[in-house]
Amino acid sequence: MSENMISRRKFLRTLGLGGILLGSYPYLSACSAFLDRRTTPEVVGDPDVEVRLIARPGTQQIFSGTPTNIWRFTGEVLKGPADTLFSIPESYLGPIFRVKSGAQLRVHFENELPEKSIVHWHGLHVPDTADGHPRLAVESGESYVYDFKVMDRAGTYWYHPHPHGRTGPQVYRGLAGLFLIQDDQEAALSLPSGDQDLPMVIQDRTFDQDNQLIYDPSMMGMFGDQNFVNGLPDYTLDVDRRAYRLRLMNGSNARIYKLAWDDGTPLQVIGTEGGLLEKPVIKDYVTLAPAQRIDVWVDFGGWEAGKWINMVNLPSAAPGGGREFKIFSAAIKDTPRKEASLPETFPLHEKLDASQAVNANALRSFVLSMGMGMRWMINGRVFDMTNVANDEKVRQGDIEVWEFANRGMGMGMGMGMGMAQPHPMHIHGLQFKILERQIDPSELDAYNSLKNGFVDQGWHDTVLVMPGETVRLLMQFKDFSGLYVYHCHILEHEDMGMMRNFQVKNA
Ligand code: C2O
Ligand code: CU
Ligand code: CU
Repeated sequence: MSENMISRRKFLRTLGLGGILLGSYPYLSACSAFLDRRTTPEVVGDPDVEVRLIARPGTQQIFSGTPTNIWRFTGEVLKGPADTLFSIPESYLGPIFRVKSGAQLRVHFENELPEKSIVHWHGLHVPDTADGHPRLAVESGESYVYDFKVMDRAGTYWYHPHPHGRTGPQVYRGLAGLFLIQDDQEAALSLPSGDQDLPMVIQDRTFDQDNQLIYDPSMMGMFGDQNFVNGLPDYTLDVDRRAYRLRLMNGSNARIYKLAWDDGTPLQVIGTEGGLLEKPVIKDYVTLAPAQRIDVWVDFGGWEAGKWINMVNLPSAAPGGGREFKIFSAAIKDTPRKEASLPETFPLHEKLDASQAVNANALRSFVLSMGMGMRWMINGRVFDMTNVANDEKVRQGDIEVWEFANRGMGMGMGMGMGMAQPHPMHIHGLQFKILERQIDPSELDAYNSLKNGFVDQGWHDTVLVMPGETVRLLMQFKDFSGLYVYHCHILEHEDMGMMRNFQVKNA
Protein backbone atom coordinates (compact mmCIF):
# COMPACT_ATOMS: atom_id res chain seq x y z
CA MET A 1 0.00 0.00 0.00
CA SER A 2 1.43 3.33 -0.96
CA GLU A 3 2.03 6.13 1.48
CA ASN A 4 -0.79 8.00 -0.20
CA MET A 5 -3.25 5.21 0.44
CA ILE A 6 -2.34 4.99 4.10
CA SER A 7 -2.73 8.66 4.64
CA ARG A 8 -5.98 8.69 2.72
CA ARG A 9 -7.32 6.00 5.05
CA LYS A 10 -6.18 7.93 8.07
CA PHE A 11 -7.77 11.00 6.62
CA LEU A 12 -11.05 9.19 6.08
CA ARG A 13 -11.01 7.93 9.62
CA THR A 14 -10.49 11.42 10.94
CA LEU A 15 -13.54 12.52 9.08
CA GLY A 16 -15.46 9.60 10.50
CA LEU A 17 -16.01 8.12 7.08
CA GLY A 18 -13.60 5.18 7.28
CA GLY A 19 -15.01 1.98 5.91
CA ILE A 20 -17.84 3.66 4.12
CA LEU A 21 -16.03 5.53 1.43
CA LEU A 22 -13.06 3.70 0.12
CA GLY A 23 -14.16 4.22 -3.43
CA SER A 24 -12.80 6.67 -5.92
CA TYR A 25 -11.38 9.91 -4.72
CA PRO A 26 -13.80 12.20 -6.58
CA TYR A 27 -16.62 10.54 -4.68
CA LEU A 28 -14.90 11.28 -1.39
CA SER A 29 -14.34 14.88 -2.35
CA ALA A 30 -17.96 15.42 -3.18
CA CYS A 31 -18.97 13.95 0.16
CA SER A 32 -16.42 15.73 2.30
CA ALA A 33 -17.37 18.97 0.60
CA PHE A 34 -20.90 18.28 1.66
CA LEU A 35 -20.11 17.27 5.22
CA ASP A 36 -17.49 19.82 6.15
CA ARG A 37 -19.10 22.93 7.53
CA ARG A 38 -16.02 24.95 6.83
CA THR A 39 -16.10 24.35 3.15
CA THR A 40 -16.77 27.18 0.75
CA PRO A 41 -20.52 27.64 1.10
CA GLU A 42 -21.44 28.79 -2.41
CA VAL A 43 -22.69 26.09 -4.69
CA VAL A 44 -20.26 26.11 -7.55
CA GLY A 45 -20.65 24.29 -10.82
CA ASP A 46 -18.20 21.73 -12.08
CA PRO A 47 -14.61 22.94 -11.77
CA ASP A 48 -12.36 22.98 -14.84
CA VAL A 49 -9.41 22.01 -12.71
CA GLU A 50 -9.48 20.02 -9.51
CA VAL A 51 -6.46 19.43 -7.33
CA ARG A 52 -5.70 17.69 -4.08
CA LEU A 53 -3.09 19.47 -1.99
CA ILE A 54 -1.68 17.84 1.13
CA ALA A 55 0.53 19.45 3.76
CA ARG A 56 2.52 16.96 5.78
CA PRO A 57 5.86 16.31 7.45
CA GLY A 58 8.57 14.65 5.39
CA THR A 59 12.29 14.51 4.83
CA GLN A 60 14.53 15.86 2.11
CA GLN A 61 18.13 14.99 1.31
CA ILE A 62 19.46 18.55 1.12
CA PHE A 63 23.04 17.92 2.24
CA SER A 64 25.10 14.76 2.43
CA GLY A 65 24.51 12.87 5.67
CA THR A 66 21.31 13.10 7.65
CA PRO A 67 18.20 14.04 5.65
CA THR A 68 16.49 17.23 6.76
CA ASN A 69 13.08 17.07 8.40
CA ILE A 70 10.79 19.40 6.52
CA TRP A 71 7.11 20.06 5.98
CA ARG A 72 5.90 20.05 2.41
CA PHE A 73 2.97 20.39 0.11
CA THR A 74 2.35 17.56 -2.30
CA GLY A 75 -0.32 17.63 -4.94
CA GLU A 76 -2.30 15.52 -7.33
CA VAL A 77 -4.37 16.62 -10.30
CA LEU A 78 -7.84 15.08 -10.05
CA LYS A 79 -9.32 16.84 -13.05
CA GLY A 80 -8.02 19.06 -15.82
CA PRO A 81 -4.63 19.27 -17.57
CA ALA A 82 -2.07 16.88 -16.05
CA ASP A 83 0.59 19.60 -16.19
CA THR A 84 -1.42 21.84 -13.85
CA LEU A 85 1.06 20.80 -11.16
CA PHE A 86 4.81 20.66 -11.56
CA SER A 87 7.07 19.47 -8.77
CA ILE A 88 10.62 20.77 -8.70
CA PRO A 89 12.91 17.71 -8.41
CA GLU A 90 14.71 17.35 -5.07
CA SER A 91 13.03 20.45 -3.68
CA TYR A 92 11.17 20.89 -0.41
CA LEU A 93 8.90 23.45 -2.11
CA GLY A 94 5.33 22.64 -3.03
CA PRO A 95 4.27 21.91 -6.61
CA ILE A 96 4.07 24.84 -9.00
CA PHE A 97 0.50 25.47 -10.12
CA ARG A 98 0.03 26.46 -13.77
CA VAL A 99 -3.49 27.64 -14.40
CA LYS A 100 -5.21 29.64 -17.13
CA SER A 101 -6.94 32.85 -16.25
CA GLY A 102 -10.68 32.19 -16.30
CA ALA A 103 -10.42 28.61 -15.07
CA GLN A 104 -12.73 27.46 -12.29
CA LEU A 105 -10.50 25.82 -9.72
CA ARG A 106 -11.27 23.47 -6.86
CA VAL A 107 -8.55 22.59 -4.37
CA HIS A 108 -8.98 19.98 -1.69
CA PHE A 109 -6.54 20.94 1.03
CA GLU A 110 -5.74 18.18 3.49
CA ASN A 111 -3.93 19.10 6.66
CA GLU A 112 -1.70 16.23 7.78
CA LEU A 113 0.54 18.48 9.84
CA PRO A 114 0.58 18.01 13.60
CA GLU A 115 -1.04 21.43 14.02
CA LYS A 116 -3.70 23.61 12.45
CA SER A 117 -3.18 25.22 9.09
CA ILE A 118 -4.88 26.80 6.10
CA VAL A 119 -3.68 27.75 2.62
CA HIS A 120 -3.68 31.31 1.31
CA TRP A 121 -3.45 32.10 -2.44
CA HIS A 122 -1.18 35.10 -2.28
CA GLY A 123 -2.03 37.87 -4.73
CA LEU A 124 -5.22 36.31 -6.04
CA HIS A 125 -8.59 38.03 -6.18
CA VAL A 126 -10.84 35.35 -4.65
CA PRO A 127 -13.95 35.18 -2.45
CA ASP A 128 -13.13 35.53 1.25
CA THR A 129 -14.10 31.90 1.82
CA ALA A 130 -11.25 30.90 -0.51
CA ASP A 131 -8.69 33.37 0.80
CA GLY A 132 -7.20 31.33 3.65
CA HIS A 133 -7.98 33.84 6.38
CA PRO A 134 -6.62 32.54 9.73
CA ARG A 135 -10.17 32.09 11.07
CA LEU A 136 -10.61 29.33 8.48
CA ALA A 137 -7.65 27.27 9.73
CA VAL A 138 -8.43 23.58 10.03
CA GLU A 139 -7.11 21.19 12.66
CA SER A 140 -4.68 18.38 12.05
CA GLY A 141 -6.44 15.66 10.04
CA GLU A 142 -9.09 17.99 8.67
CA SER A 143 -9.63 19.34 5.20
CA TYR A 144 -10.78 22.51 3.49
CA VAL A 145 -12.19 22.82 0.00
CA TYR A 146 -11.47 25.92 -2.06
CA ASP A 147 -13.66 26.87 -4.99
CA PHE A 148 -12.71 29.91 -6.97
CA LYS A 149 -12.38 31.26 -10.44
CA VAL A 150 -8.91 32.39 -11.44
CA MET A 151 -9.63 36.01 -12.29
CA ASP A 152 -6.19 37.60 -12.20
CA ARG A 153 -3.88 38.60 -15.01
CA ALA A 154 -1.11 36.32 -16.14
CA GLY A 155 1.71 36.51 -13.65
CA THR A 156 3.66 34.98 -10.81
CA TYR A 157 1.60 34.40 -7.69
CA TRP A 158 2.13 31.96 -4.83
CA TYR A 159 0.54 30.04 -1.99
CA HIS A 160 1.52 29.39 1.60
CA PRO A 161 -0.05 28.58 4.99
CA HIS A 162 -1.78 31.30 7.01
CA PRO A 163 -2.74 30.03 10.50
CA HIS A 164 -2.44 32.84 13.02
CA GLY A 165 0.82 32.81 14.95
CA ARG A 166 2.28 29.90 12.98
CA THR A 167 2.75 31.20 9.45
CA GLY A 168 6.45 31.95 10.00
CA PRO A 169 7.48 28.50 11.23
CA GLN A 170 5.28 26.66 8.72
CA VAL A 171 6.66 28.50 5.71
CA TYR A 172 10.20 28.17 7.07
CA ARG A 173 9.86 24.39 7.27
CA GLY A 174 9.08 24.32 3.56
CA LEU A 175 5.40 25.05 3.04
CA ALA A 176 5.21 27.36 0.01
CA GLY A 177 4.79 27.06 -3.72
CA LEU A 178 4.34 29.15 -6.84
CA PHE A 179 1.04 29.73 -8.58
CA LEU A 180 1.56 30.80 -12.20
CA ILE A 181 -1.33 32.24 -14.16
CA GLN A 182 -1.29 32.26 -17.93
CA ASP A 183 -3.57 34.09 -20.33
CA ASP A 184 -3.91 34.53 -24.09
CA GLN A 185 -2.69 38.12 -24.11
CA GLU A 186 0.58 37.20 -22.49
CA ALA A 187 0.95 34.10 -24.64
CA ALA A 188 0.63 36.27 -27.75
CA LEU A 189 3.73 38.25 -26.75
CA SER A 190 6.09 35.32 -27.40
CA LEU A 191 8.04 35.94 -24.23
CA PRO A 192 10.55 33.24 -23.32
CA SER A 193 8.59 30.13 -22.38
CA GLY A 194 9.08 26.47 -21.61
CA ASP A 195 12.70 25.79 -20.64
CA GLN A 196 13.39 29.52 -20.90
CA ASP A 197 10.74 30.48 -18.33
CA LEU A 198 12.40 29.89 -14.98
CA PRO A 199 10.84 30.24 -11.55
CA MET A 200 13.43 31.35 -8.98
CA VAL A 201 12.18 31.23 -5.40
CA ILE A 202 14.79 32.82 -3.15
CA GLN A 203 14.89 31.84 0.53
CA ASP A 204 17.29 31.79 3.46
CA ARG A 205 17.63 28.99 5.98
CA THR A 206 19.87 28.04 8.91
CA PHE A 207 20.78 24.43 9.77
CA ASP A 208 22.35 22.75 12.75
CA GLN A 209 25.28 20.31 12.61
CA ASP A 210 22.88 17.46 11.97
CA ASN A 211 21.35 19.17 8.89
CA GLN A 212 18.17 20.15 10.73
CA LEU A 213 16.47 23.51 10.31
CA ILE A 214 16.92 26.04 13.09
CA TYR A 215 14.03 28.43 13.60
CA ASP A 216 15.09 31.08 16.06
CA PRO A 217 13.66 34.47 15.10
CA SER A 218 14.28 37.83 16.75
CA MET A 219 12.05 40.88 16.74
CA MET A 220 13.44 41.54 13.27
CA GLY A 221 12.22 38.18 12.03
CA MET A 222 13.94 34.94 11.04
CA PHE A 223 17.13 35.34 9.04
CA GLY A 224 18.88 32.26 7.69
CA ASP A 225 22.61 32.15 6.98
CA GLN A 226 22.36 30.04 3.84
CA ASN A 227 20.86 30.95 0.50
CA PHE A 228 18.40 28.69 -1.34
CA VAL A 229 16.83 28.92 -4.77
CA ASN A 230 13.85 26.68 -5.52
CA GLY A 231 14.57 24.74 -2.35
CA LEU A 232 18.17 23.93 -3.32
CA PRO A 233 21.47 25.29 -1.99
CA ASP A 234 24.25 26.47 -4.36
CA TYR A 235 21.85 26.89 -7.24
CA THR A 236 23.38 26.75 -10.71
CA LEU A 237 21.72 27.02 -14.10
CA ASP A 238 23.11 25.93 -17.44
CA VAL A 239 21.75 28.42 -19.92
CA ASP A 240 21.73 28.66 -23.69
CA ARG A 241 22.80 31.85 -25.44
CA ARG A 242 19.28 33.18 -25.81
CA ALA A 243 16.58 35.09 -23.93
CA TYR A 244 15.10 33.86 -20.64
CA ARG A 245 12.37 34.96 -18.31
CA LEU A 246 13.34 34.74 -14.65
CA ARG A 247 10.46 34.86 -12.21
CA LEU A 248 12.24 35.97 -9.07
CA MET A 249 10.29 35.58 -5.89
CA ASN A 250 11.31 36.45 -2.35
CA GLY A 251 10.05 33.47 -0.35
CA SER A 252 12.09 34.34 2.74
CA ASN A 253 10.43 35.04 6.06
CA ALA A 254 12.18 38.37 6.69
CA ARG A 255 15.14 39.07 4.42
CA ILE A 256 15.05 41.97 1.98
CA TYR A 257 17.22 41.37 -1.09
CA LYS A 258 19.13 43.83 -3.23
CA LEU A 259 19.58 41.79 -6.39
CA ALA A 260 22.07 42.49 -9.18
CA TRP A 261 24.24 40.75 -11.78
CA ASP A 262 27.77 40.64 -10.40
CA ASP A 263 29.32 42.21 -13.51
CA GLY A 264 27.04 45.25 -13.27
CA THR A 265 24.84 44.38 -16.25
CA PRO A 266 21.49 46.13 -15.66
CA LEU A 267 18.34 44.11 -15.00
CA GLN A 268 15.46 44.38 -17.45
CA VAL A 269 12.31 44.15 -15.36
CA ILE A 270 9.16 43.19 -17.25
CA GLY A 271 6.74 42.29 -14.47
CA THR A 272 5.78 42.64 -10.83
CA GLU A 273 3.39 40.84 -8.46
CA GLY A 274 0.33 41.55 -10.61
CA GLY A 275 1.82 40.64 -13.98
CA LEU A 276 3.54 42.47 -16.82
CA LEU A 277 4.42 46.15 -16.66
CA GLU A 278 3.32 48.59 -19.36
CA LYS A 279 6.89 48.54 -20.59
CA PRO A 280 10.22 47.15 -19.40
CA VAL A 281 12.08 49.05 -16.67
CA ILE A 282 15.87 49.02 -16.51
CA LYS A 283 17.47 48.78 -13.05
CA ASP A 284 21.04 48.50 -11.79
CA TYR A 285 19.64 46.44 -8.95
CA VAL A 286 16.19 45.37 -7.75
CA THR A 287 14.96 45.58 -4.16
CA LEU A 288 12.86 42.52 -3.39
CA ALA A 289 11.05 42.39 -0.05
CA PRO A 290 9.42 39.24 1.38
CA ALA A 291 6.48 38.03 -0.77
CA GLN A 292 7.38 40.30 -3.69
CA ARG A 293 7.92 38.95 -7.19
CA ILE A 294 9.72 40.44 -10.11
CA ASP A 295 9.92 39.19 -13.69
CA VAL A 296 13.29 39.76 -15.32
CA TRP A 297 14.00 39.33 -19.01
CA VAL A 298 17.60 38.43 -19.69
CA ASP A 299 19.48 37.65 -22.90
CA PHE A 300 22.21 35.21 -21.90
CA GLY A 301 23.46 35.51 -25.47
CA GLY A 302 24.96 38.80 -24.33
CA TRP A 303 27.69 36.88 -22.50
CA GLU A 304 30.40 34.73 -24.03
CA ALA A 305 30.10 30.99 -24.13
CA GLY A 306 31.79 29.35 -21.16
CA LYS A 307 31.37 32.38 -18.91
CA TRP A 308 29.71 32.32 -15.51
CA ILE A 309 27.42 35.08 -14.43
CA ASN A 310 26.17 35.36 -10.86
CA MET A 311 23.14 37.00 -9.42
CA VAL A 312 24.21 38.44 -6.09
CA ASN A 313 22.71 40.15 -3.10
CA LEU A 314 24.39 43.55 -2.67
CA PRO A 315 25.01 44.95 0.81
CA SER A 316 22.35 47.39 2.03
CA ALA A 317 21.09 48.93 5.26
CA ALA A 318 18.21 46.43 5.41
CA PRO A 319 18.27 44.22 8.53
CA GLY A 320 20.79 41.44 7.94
CA GLY A 321 21.84 43.16 4.71
CA GLY A 322 25.46 43.83 5.56
CA ARG A 323 27.20 41.42 3.24
CA GLU A 324 27.34 40.47 -0.40
CA PHE A 325 26.56 36.86 -1.25
CA LYS A 326 25.68 34.77 -4.25
CA ILE A 327 22.02 34.04 -5.04
CA PHE A 328 22.66 31.73 -8.02
CA SER A 329 25.07 31.20 -10.91
CA ALA A 330 24.33 30.85 -14.59
CA ALA A 331 26.84 28.97 -16.74
CA ILE A 332 26.64 30.13 -20.36
CA LYS A 333 26.67 27.05 -22.59
CA ASP A 334 28.63 26.87 -25.81
CA THR A 335 25.60 26.95 -28.06
CA PRO A 336 24.90 29.18 -31.08
CA ARG A 337 23.50 32.53 -30.14
CA LYS A 338 19.79 32.90 -30.71
CA GLU A 339 18.60 36.39 -31.58
CA ALA A 340 16.39 37.82 -28.90
CA SER A 341 14.39 40.98 -28.70
CA LEU A 342 12.36 42.35 -25.87
CA PRO A 343 9.02 43.96 -26.77
CA GLU A 344 9.02 47.71 -26.14
CA THR A 345 5.57 47.73 -24.59
CA PHE A 346 3.15 45.21 -23.18
CA PRO A 347 -0.49 45.62 -24.12
CA LEU A 348 -3.65 45.66 -22.09
CA HIS A 349 -2.83 47.40 -18.91
CA GLU A 350 -5.89 47.99 -16.82
CA LYS A 351 -6.03 51.55 -15.50
CA LEU A 352 -7.17 52.77 -12.11
CA ASP A 353 -7.92 56.46 -11.75
CA ALA A 354 -6.83 58.12 -8.50
CA SER A 355 -9.31 60.95 -9.03
CA GLN A 356 -12.10 58.41 -8.59
CA ALA A 357 -11.02 57.41 -5.10
CA VAL A 358 -13.90 57.87 -2.67
CA ASN A 359 -11.55 58.95 0.10
CA ALA A 360 -9.22 61.29 -1.79
CA ASN A 361 -9.75 63.99 0.84
CA ALA A 362 -9.80 61.79 3.92
CA LEU A 363 -7.09 59.22 3.49
CA ARG A 364 -7.26 55.89 5.18
CA SER A 365 -4.01 55.99 7.08
CA PHE A 366 -2.30 53.11 8.86
CA VAL A 367 0.59 53.84 11.19
CA LEU A 368 3.13 51.05 11.62
CA SER A 369 4.90 50.95 14.96
CA MET A 370 6.39 48.79 17.65
CA GLY A 371 4.38 48.29 20.83
CA MET A 372 5.26 47.23 24.35
CA GLY A 373 5.97 43.58 24.99
CA MET A 374 7.40 42.41 21.67
CA ARG A 375 4.57 43.45 19.48
CA TRP A 376 4.33 45.09 16.09
CA MET A 377 1.22 47.14 15.55
CA ILE A 378 -0.96 48.79 12.93
CA ASN A 379 -2.69 51.95 14.17
CA GLY A 380 -1.87 50.86 17.70
CA ARG A 381 -3.67 47.53 17.35
CA VAL A 382 -2.60 43.92 16.98
CA PHE A 383 -4.41 41.11 15.20
CA ASP A 384 -7.76 40.02 16.52
CA MET A 385 -9.38 37.08 14.75
CA THR A 386 -12.74 38.65 14.09
CA ASN A 387 -12.52 42.28 15.17
CA VAL A 388 -12.71 44.99 12.51
CA ALA A 389 -12.25 48.60 13.58
CA ASN A 390 -14.28 51.38 12.01
CA ASP A 391 -11.34 52.58 9.95
CA GLU A 392 -11.00 49.08 8.49
CA LYS A 393 -14.36 48.89 6.75
CA VAL A 394 -14.66 49.59 3.04
CA ARG A 395 -17.43 49.30 0.49
CA GLN A 396 -17.40 46.80 -2.35
CA GLY A 397 -16.79 48.54 -5.65
CA ASP A 398 -15.05 51.55 -4.12
CA ILE A 399 -11.70 52.88 -5.24
CA GLU A 400 -9.61 54.03 -2.28
CA VAL A 401 -6.25 55.50 -1.39
CA TRP A 402 -4.54 53.80 1.54
CA GLU A 403 -1.52 55.19 3.29
CA PHE A 404 1.03 53.19 5.30
CA ALA A 405 3.22 55.34 7.55
CA ASN A 406 6.21 53.62 9.13
CA ARG A 407 6.91 55.57 12.30
CA GLY A 408 8.90 52.99 14.27
CA MET A 409 9.20 54.40 17.80
CA GLY A 410 8.84 57.95 16.57
CA MET A 411 10.72 60.17 14.21
CA GLY A 412 14.43 59.97 13.95
CA MET A 413 15.09 56.59 15.57
CA GLY A 414 17.65 54.84 13.41
CA MET A 415 17.43 51.28 12.22
CA GLY A 416 20.41 50.48 14.41
CA MET A 417 18.14 50.71 17.43
CA GLY A 418 16.18 47.74 16.12
CA MET A 419 12.97 49.64 16.65
CA ALA A 420 12.58 51.17 13.25
CA GLN A 421 12.15 48.30 10.84
CA PRO A 422 11.18 48.12 7.21
CA HIS A 423 7.72 46.58 6.80
CA PRO A 424 6.67 44.94 3.51
CA MET A 425 2.93 45.58 3.71
CA HIS A 426 0.60 43.17 1.96
CA ILE A 427 -3.14 43.42 1.30
CA HIS A 428 -5.18 40.29 0.59
CA GLY A 429 -7.51 39.81 -2.31
CA LEU A 430 -6.34 42.54 -4.67
CA GLN A 431 -3.52 44.18 -6.59
CA PHE A 432 -2.82 47.88 -6.00
CA LYS A 433 -0.95 50.76 -7.61
CA ILE A 434 1.78 52.66 -5.80
CA LEU A 435 0.96 56.38 -5.99
CA GLU A 436 3.76 58.06 -4.06
CA ARG A 437 6.40 57.77 -1.36
CA GLN A 438 7.58 60.31 1.19
CA ILE A 439 10.63 59.84 3.37
CA ASP A 440 11.54 61.56 6.61
CA PRO A 441 14.93 63.26 5.99
CA SER A 442 16.35 61.81 9.20
CA GLU A 443 15.90 58.29 7.80
CA LEU A 444 17.45 58.87 4.40
CA ASP A 445 20.55 56.70 4.82
CA ALA A 446 18.81 53.35 4.97
CA TYR A 447 16.32 54.48 2.36
CA ASN A 448 18.99 55.52 -0.10
CA SER A 449 20.67 52.12 0.14
CA LEU A 450 17.59 50.47 -1.40
CA LYS A 451 15.42 53.03 -3.15
CA ASN A 452 16.86 52.78 -6.67
CA GLY A 453 15.79 49.16 -6.68
CA PHE A 454 12.10 49.84 -6.09
CA VAL A 455 9.95 48.95 -9.08
CA ASP A 456 6.86 51.02 -8.26
CA GLN A 457 5.33 50.73 -11.72
CA GLY A 458 2.70 48.10 -12.42
CA TRP A 459 0.46 46.12 -10.09
CA HIS A 460 1.52 45.01 -6.64
CA ASP A 461 0.18 43.13 -3.65
CA THR A 462 3.12 43.90 -1.36
CA VAL A 463 4.96 47.20 -0.91
CA LEU A 464 8.07 47.86 1.12
CA VAL A 465 7.61 50.71 3.60
CA MET A 466 10.99 51.83 4.91
CA PRO A 467 11.55 53.39 8.35
CA GLY A 468 10.42 57.01 8.25
CA GLU A 469 8.55 56.40 5.03
CA THR A 470 4.92 57.00 4.07
CA VAL A 471 3.58 55.18 1.01
CA ARG A 472 0.26 55.85 -0.70
CA LEU A 473 -1.55 53.11 -2.60
CA LEU A 474 -4.54 53.05 -4.93
CA MET A 475 -6.85 50.06 -4.98
CA GLN A 476 -10.35 48.87 -5.75
CA PHE A 477 -12.44 46.33 -3.82
CA LYS A 478 -13.97 44.72 -6.83
CA ASP A 479 -16.04 41.59 -6.86
CA PHE A 480 -16.32 40.23 -3.34
CA SER A 481 -17.53 41.35 0.04
CA GLY A 482 -16.25 39.72 3.20
CA LEU A 483 -13.43 39.55 5.69
CA TYR A 484 -9.81 39.81 4.50
CA VAL A 485 -6.52 40.70 6.15
CA TYR A 486 -3.69 43.12 5.52
CA HIS A 487 -0.36 42.64 7.24
CA CYS A 488 3.37 42.93 7.28
CA HIS A 489 4.88 40.09 5.23
CA ILE A 490 7.86 39.71 7.53
CA LEU A 491 6.22 36.53 8.72
CA GLU A 492 7.38 36.94 12.32
CA HIS A 493 5.94 40.46 12.43
CA GLU A 494 2.68 39.03 11.13
CA ASP A 495 2.79 36.23 13.71
CA MET A 496 3.56 38.80 16.43
CA GLY A 497 0.36 40.64 15.61
CA MET A 498 1.20 43.03 12.77
CA MET A 499 -1.92 41.97 10.89
CA ARG A 500 -5.49 43.28 10.91
CA ASN A 501 -8.81 42.44 9.33
CA PHE A 502 -10.47 44.65 6.83
CA GLN A 503 -14.06 44.16 5.85
CA VAL A 504 -15.48 44.74 2.41
CA LYS A 505 -19.16 45.54 2.90
CA ASN A 506 -21.87 45.05 0.33
CA ALA A 507 -22.46 48.32 -1.45
CU1 C2O B 1 1.46 35.94 1.57
CU2 C2O B 1 -1.42 37.06 4.11
O1 C2O B 1 0.05 36.49 2.84
CU1 CU C 1 -1.66 37.32 0.54
CU1 CU D 1 7.05 44.26 9.62
